[in-house]
Amino acid sequence: HVLNIDPNAASKGAYEFYMLKEIDEQPGVMRHMSQNYLDDNGEPKVDQDILDAISKADRLYIFAAGTSYHAGLVGKTIFEHYTGIPTEVGLASEAGYHFPMMSKHPFFIFLTQSGETADSRVVLKEVNKRSIPSLTMTNVEGSTLSREATYTMLLGAGPEIAVASTKAYTAQIALQAVLAKALGEKLGKQEAKDWNLRQDLAMAAEGIQQIVDGKEKLKKLADDYLIKSRNAFYIGRGIDYAVALEAALKLKEVSYIQTEGFAAAELKHGTISLIEKGTPVVALINDPVTADLTRGNSQEVVSRGASVITIVGKDFAREGDDIVLPEINYYMSALLTVVPAQLLAYYASKDKGLDVDKPRNLAKSVTVE
Ligand code: G6P
Repeated sequence: HVLNIDPNAASKGAYEFYMLKEIDEQPGVMRHMSQNYLDDNGEPKVDQDILDAISKADRLYIFAAGTSYHAGLVGKTIFEHYTGIPTEVGLASEAGYHFPMMSKHPFFIFLTQSGETADSRVVLKEVNKRSIPSLTMTNVEGSTLSREATYTMLLGAGPEIAVASTKAYTAQIALQAVLAKALGEKLGKQEAKDWNLRQDLAMAAEGIQQIVDGKEKLKKLADDYLIKSRNAFYIGRGIDYAVALEAALKLKEVSYIQTEGFAAAELKHGTISLIEKGTPVVALINDPVTADLTRGNSQEVVSRGASVITIVGKDFAREGDDIVLPEINYYMSALLTVVPAQLLAYYASKDKGLDVDKPRNLAKSVTVE
């Protein structure tokens, strides 16, 4: 299932920064995911050994750090919906020394772009000591977490050079979807059988393309609302909440604007006191169940002076929304919602004159605890 990596793929070409190049590559990453992991009938191609092992699990445990952890939060919702297996997601750095309570038949999934993150390696060591089966989803073949886990699935996103992770995040979500479909079908879940994943990945590829083609609009929003601000918020519910956490990380790590991702309804339980005239709040609205409620939460901050930017799924769009996302299955919506947030972060950083690809104090791969 390995993507044939173009030897020139790691060159910047006409791009000023890798981050934008890697954002732009995401439609291709979605198409490769489909080509590499789905057969001609759209059925997932996952090693039988992996499926045999994971289908015995009564609970999935996803561990990761940083952006990969945020991909796991999205994965939890996908796994639970399509497989019916309860799924726990945790920060590797917390689990290494406070190991989670185990179900009878646990199965561990490690998400790691680099495959080298020390915090995740500590958890895997504990997992191996306990002889628990594990799978590493990584972008780097032969990496340490890949070698030390029982099984590996490669992201095939091509080299990611910018410190801020973009295409690895969307690849991790898509690959978790592939595994969820295969596992759900093996377990006889109707939701998995009825799921046209090939179509969803094609819609993700097309949708991301539309968003990146409209990037000028995001540059303007970043220039008008973000670059002069010291702080900002992302709000959302359901999968949008998971994306809000990743969107906030993206913006703060490259632009140095202090940004928090919040469950939309939680703002009113304290954090809303930080909203002042002009505070940027980006509202993510894709969850069919809570779209109106999040809309209400965004009104609450508008009435306290916030400058709200709305990123909204097509079905929930209203007059005056800033970014309307192309249509997609809710469970795959993170693949689209995150892209405008990646672009806002990119332009906020670039237009502040910062080194987008190498933010201060950060490393691409962190091999210390
Ligand atoms: C570093 C990077 C982050 C990344 C995290 C986890 O902190 O700067 O972008 O999300 O490590 O890395 P991994 O390679 O395990 O996904």
